[in-house]
Amino acid sequence: MKKLIVANWKMNPSSAKEAVSLAKKVDAGIPQEKNIEIEVVIAPPFPFLAGVGKVIRRAKLGAQDVFWEDAGAYTGEVSPMILKRLGVTYVIIGHSEQRRLLHETDEMIHKKVSASLQAGLKAILCVGESLAVRKKGLAAAKNFVKNQLKKDLKNISGLKDNELIIAYEPIWAIGTGKSDNPESAAEMTRFIKSTLRSKPYTLNARVIYGGSVTSQNARSFLYYNGSTSFDAAQDKSLATEGIDGALVGGASLKAEEFKKIIKSL
Ligand code: PGA
Repeated sequence: MKKLIVANWKMNPSSAKEAVSLAKKVDAGIPQEKNIEIEVVIAPPFPFLAGVGKVIRRAKLGAQDVFWEDAGAYTGEVSPMILKRLGVTYVIIGHSEQRRLLHETDEMIHKKVSASLQAGLKAILCVGESLAVRKKGLAAAKNFVKNQLKKDLKNISGLKDNELIIAYEPIWAIGTGKSDNPESAAEMTRFIKSTLRSKPYTLNARVIYGGSVTSQNARSFLYYNGSTSFDAAQDKSLATEGIDGALVGGASLKAEEFKKIIKSL
């Protein structure tokens, strides 16, 4: 399966000109061979979507958020349809910065995921535990993530495998320079895949990792092939499956560094 690398620019850069220039550089760094094993998504701030969409050839366009209604009196919001018509393919939903700073609830996230899927966008749903939860151990973190999935994906079934992507982003690893270790991230990935394969989801969704990914550590996450305690204890069919990609924040704003991540894979 192709690795999915998502550049989450967050609220950067500060002008359309810089956004277009960064997008051009990144796009040119994506391998051109026919058999590309990597899919790159660039998710700029809303006002730069159109400009970036015009200059990218190999990357896909992503949005960082979406609203759940199609049109109407919703000041400040952007509908899935507007995004779709701008050429957006992927939309990031439920990022921890939105959950924390804007008090986005699981109920809101659920509506955003449903509306996006209905509009034909591919949803990248972010889940992940806080440091307080993780300090209680990986089992507590899994429980937390399982609950997020349950609420965020309530009544969502019958999806195609490639329509939903889960980004596992432990909150304490985002923007801190302290990434998770590949073994725990792989264990969590397998746990999420196993959860989604069972009812009511019955889905082979891709799971990507986010949290201080750089050119130095990307390969160790995306090609982690050691075993995890989860394999032996639970679902052996997942034993050889790893992390399907990365959601990259800070390192995606430096063209050279981001290109190095792509090259390292
Ligand atoms: P980071 O951000 O790579 O800067 O840690 C990741 C994210 O928030 O998606």
